[in-house]
This record gives sequence, C-alpha cells and structure tokens, in this order.
Amino acid sequence: MKNYILFGAPGAGKGTQSALIAKKYNLLHISTGDLLRKEMKNGSEIGLRVQKIISDGNLIDDSTVLELLRSELVNARGVNGFIYDGYPRTLQQAKDLEELFAVMGWQINAVISLAIDEEEIFRRILNRAKIEGRSDDADEIVIRQRIENFRKQTEPLVEYYKSKGIFHPVKGGGTIEEGFAGVCEIIDKSI
Ligand code: AP5
Ligand code: MG
Repeated sequence: MKNYILFGAPGAGKGTQSALIAKKYNLLHISTGDLLRKEMKNGSEIGLRVQKIISDGNLIDDSTVLELLRSELVNARGVNGFIYDGYPRTLQQAKDLEELFAVMGWQINAVISLAIDEEEIFRRILNRAKIEGRSDDADEIVIRQRIENFRKQTEPLVEYYKSKGIFHPVKGGGTIEEGFAGVCEIIDKSI
C-alpha cells in the first residue's frame, strides 16, 4: 500500500490536490476535515461534540480523529493506497499514524507540503465562504485562528518529517495545474 501525506496550511490546496491525485493513482482520499463535517451533518455524537470547536477554528482531540481515520482504513477496498489530507496535524497524531502503520506493515512514501502565503490563504478561503458555507470559513478571526493553530501545533511536523528524509515541499500558491504537476513529480519519484 502506498501512503502519501498532503501537508499544508488552511487553504493551501490539500483537498483540491488530493482529489486529483486519488483519481490519477487510484488512492483513497482521506480528509479528516471532511470526515468531521460528515459527522456534523449527520448529527452524530461525534458531530455534536466537535461542532463548536470546528466553528472556532480549533483542533479536535487526537483520539477522536484517530478513530475516524482508523475506520476509513479498515473499510477501504480495491485501492493502491491512501492520500491523507489534513492528517497528521500534531506530533501525537504523527506517532499514532506510525503505530498504526507498524501494525499494518506500511510506511509513509512521502510527505508532500504545499507552501502558500497568508494573503493567498485569506483570498481562497473567503472566496470559498461565498460558495460552500463551511462554518469555519466566513469569519476572518476564525481563519486567523486556524492559521495560528497550524503554525503552533502542525508546523513542528516539518522538522519531524525532514529528519526522516521524507519531506518534500511544493509551490502551492500558483494555479491548480502547477501545484498538481509538482505533486505528481514527487509521487512519480517515490513510487
Ligand atoms: P480541514 O477541512 O482539513 O481544513 P483546513 O486544513 O483548514 O484546510 P482547507 O480544507 O480549508 O483547505 P485545503 O488545504 O484543503 O485547500 P482546498 O483544496 O480546499 O479541517 C477543518 C477543521 O477540522 C480543522 O480546523 C479542525 O477543527 C478539524 N480537523 C481536521 N483534521 C483534523 C485533525 N487531523 N486533527 C484535529 N482536528 C482536525 O482549497 C481552498 C480553496 O481554494 C477552495 O475553494 C479551492 O477550490 C481553492 N483552490 C485550491 N487550489 C487553488 C489554486 N491553486 N488556485 C486558486 N484556488 C485554489
Ligand atoms: Mg480541505
């Protein structure tokens, strides 16, 4: 099984690029953000519990997210591997994933990081707010909080994965096609 992590700040293009990659390489796209939004939409126990935290732009606890991820992996059929979008987001999550992979006998093939500047983050997310109605997109203070959480809790993973020699930066601020070309180049090299 191939395992690729799509890493990046809010609005960097993780979801957009993951969908394209999943199709091209027959991978299952696992977005923990999408899984959480599905729980909210269904009004499940998890959904009700995470609603306010997400609307405030904060991270959900590691064990809840791990539970959702694990159930996706266990139920997956007929794919060549997985593309993780928005996971891991804390050092604990990186360790949880490693533990899971040790059991499965899997490895991370590449951590692909989409680099983007703040101005472009705001432009993209505020633009999506007009179209999709995500509870964490419309308010600039919430977007700022998401960026802040990324810097504090998620960015330390850059050094972590660099030290393992599997971290690959890609320019995420250009067009979707440019980003996709950069991501494919890394995947093709790591196959
Ligand atoms: P999540 O859903 O993962 O949101 P995010 O990380 O804030 O990222 P986005 O989905 O906003 O952006 P993206 O990088 O996917 O970019 P996209 O392709 O959509 O998480 C939401 C929340 O859930 C978190 O805040 C947290 O509360 C919780 N959560 C999720 N995972 C968690 C975890 N592991 N642990 C704890 N909590 C967790 O692009 C953005 C927009 O720009 C789109 O409209 C797109 O069409 C457009 N766009 C994309 N690429 C381009 C381009 N090249 N040019 C122009 N526009 C573009
Ligand atoms: Mg996304």
